Amino acid sequence: MEVRIVGVVGLGTMGAGIAQVCVQAGLDVVGREVSAELGERARARIDGYLSRGVDKGRLSTEEKDAALARLTTTTELGDLAGCDLVIEAIVEELEPKRSLFRELDALVRPDAILATNTSALSVTAIAAATTRPERVVGMHFFNPAPVLPLVEIVRTDLASEEAVEDAVELARRIGKEPIRCDDTPGFVVNRVLIPLLNDCVRILDETGVSPEDLDRAMRFGANWPIGPCALVDLVGVDVHVHAAEALWQALREPRMAPPPRLLRMARAGHLGRKTGRGFFSYDG
Ligand SMILES: NC(=O)c1ccc[n+]([C@@H]2O[C@H](COP(=O)([O-])OP(=O)(O)OC[C@H]3O[C@@H](n4cnc5c(N)ncnc54)[C@H](O)[C@@H]3O)[C@@H](O)[C@H]2O)c1
Repeated sequence: MEVRIVGVVGLGTMGAGIAQVCVQAGLDVVGREVSAELGERARARIDGYLSRGVDKGRLSTEEKDAALARLTTTTELGDLAGCDLVIEAIVEELEPKRSLFRELDALVRPDAILATNTSALSVTAIAAATTRPERVVGMHFFNPAPVLPLVEIVRTDLASEEAVEDAVELARRIGKEPIRCDDTPGFVVNRVLIPLLNDCVRILDETGVSPEDLDRAMRFGANWPIGPCALVDLVGVDVHVHAAEALWQALREPRMAPPPRLLRMARAGHLGRKTGRGFFSYDG
């Protein structure tokens, strides 16, 4: 099936980025938020991002205007009825996602695909809320969605091969690098990265190395493009702790559990770049 109109539900950090890459790739997007103000805020963020691209010579003003013209925002879920594929990017909680998928299921064409951007919930549990679990997949984008190329296409046992391939094809059309994987806790990247970053944080206490030197160690000794402490600050300590807790709940492997040092930072509000302080301090 050729996807021409994409619905995006939730235009927060991830949804706005996903909407942006879709309109930039020439697709029409209908984005749904809970209020008109949040919809407009998302449009302004996308406008700002594309305008910086114009300033840097990555796209022309005409291309930016054409991309923005392909984005419609709405508060009415019913406006997504004509979508070929809908990507959900609302709060990371199972019940609101299941209830949204039930509503979408009753609304869109029987052959439309419903995709979730969940990081840690079971795609199968979301798919099971619908009457079309064979048309439900995970499309797990990475933050920031306009920058990071990977999309994990998550296939549940209930999903059809055709729906999975349609999602892979869409990811390619919007310029991403899709991989296919099963519906397992953390999928691929977080399953590897979360315990690894937890280890790095524990090693701070075990070895007495400073965050600066740990980051230098991994950059200059393992050729990482960014040090682990800088990476946790970028992702957000709260986001990392939330994902670690989900993996710990699901797998019960001690390495998955968030280290006490990160829990203390989260409680203190030292969440990384977004609060100006995490392992490191950030101006402005
Ligand atoms: N932030 C990340 O690094 C990241 C990375 C990959 C995946 N994810 C996943 O993406 C999803 C969204 O995360 P986020 O960081 O963008 O969250 P966010 O809080 O920035 O955005 C969520 C948005 O959804 C809106 N919303 C809530 N319920 C809605 C509804 N019923 N209809 C329409 N809009 C609704 C909220 O108003 C909010 O703007 C989560 O499942 C998260 O786990 C996040």
